[in-house]
Amino acid sequence: MHKSLLLLLLGIIIVSCQSVEKEIPPNSETTIVEDTPLLEIDLEDAQAENLLAAALTIDVIYDPVFKRAKKYKAIPLKPYLAQVVVSQNLDTANTEIIFLCKDGYNPSMSLNKVLQNDPYLAIKDLEAPAERNWMDTLRGKWAPFYLVWPNNAKATKGYTWPYGLKFLQFKTSDASYKAAFPKDKKQIAGFELYKSKCMKCHSINKVGGIMGPEFNIPKSITEYWQAVDIKAFVKDPYSYRYNSKMPPVEGIKDKEIDKIISYLSYMKDHKIAIE
Ligand code: HEC
Repeated sequence: MHKSLLLLLLGIIIVSCQSVEKEIPPNSETTIVEDTPLLEIDLEDAQAENLLAAALTIDVIYDPVFKRAKKYKAIPLKPYLAQVVVSQNLDTANTEIIFLCKDGYNPSMSLNKVLQNDPYLAIKDLEAPAERNWMDTLRGKWAPFYLVWPNNAKATKGYTWPYGLKFLQFKTSDASYKAAFPKDKKQIAGFELYKSKCMKCHSINKVGGIMGPEFNIPKSITEYWQAVDIKAFVKDPYSYRYNSKMPPVEGIKDKEIDKIISYLSYMKDHKIAIE
């Protein structure tokens, strides 16, 4: 039974798979992927058979594609990830998991964030006819796996729902963010805050978004902006520029901005060449 299901999965024609979400996938712009992956796992290889044996019927409270509740046959991913963490001795706080799709769409999330929730690999849409895994129009695109988050009531931001998922890759964060990652452990808290609050718009050593200005090369922002101004600007950019393109960063605490500034000023002494 499992064999035939596996064959069915493998036999499905490869058609393009696209992003389920409209928003920019996490880190698509902020990650420089240049290092060899720490670890890569093929979800379709021999291990898949054990995976398939663990398939359950699950209710997804809100599926962002169908914009409603859905039922799937799906494999819990968390126990599997837990095994990988143990067997590979991964530091979950510093590992990014990258979901590799058939068409090259590669969203990523921090492993800790994934483990805080309860992801499943859907293998069958239970609204599809019994003899098929997916509805006709979706069949080729969605196999072999569609990543779903059953208990995310409204497709919370930062969670990705890729389909046509084939491989999992694990990278240490300092590989993904190498040029922005501080060598000094004391600065990691500031880096993490920077990564979650600023990096999607601002780059450090060219790692990060491009909507706002680069913060480190050739001059560090801390070399020409006073800390007190950075702090006030983050909370209320319009108090500096009536037409600022930067939205106020909501809910950030003074202490958190201090940590970010400390990290920024540390990076001043760790610039990369501009080229
Ligand atoms: C949604 C995108 C976005 C986010 C998130 C964001 N910024 Fe900005 N930031 C901008 C843009 C765009 C500018 C360009 C200047 C303007 O329009 O006023 C800017 C400008 C700045 C400036 C002024 C630099 C200059 O010379 O103009 C500082 C300082 C700054 N940001 C700090 C931060 C910090 C610190 C964070 C994180 C806590 C952050 N920003 C998060 C978009 C963003």
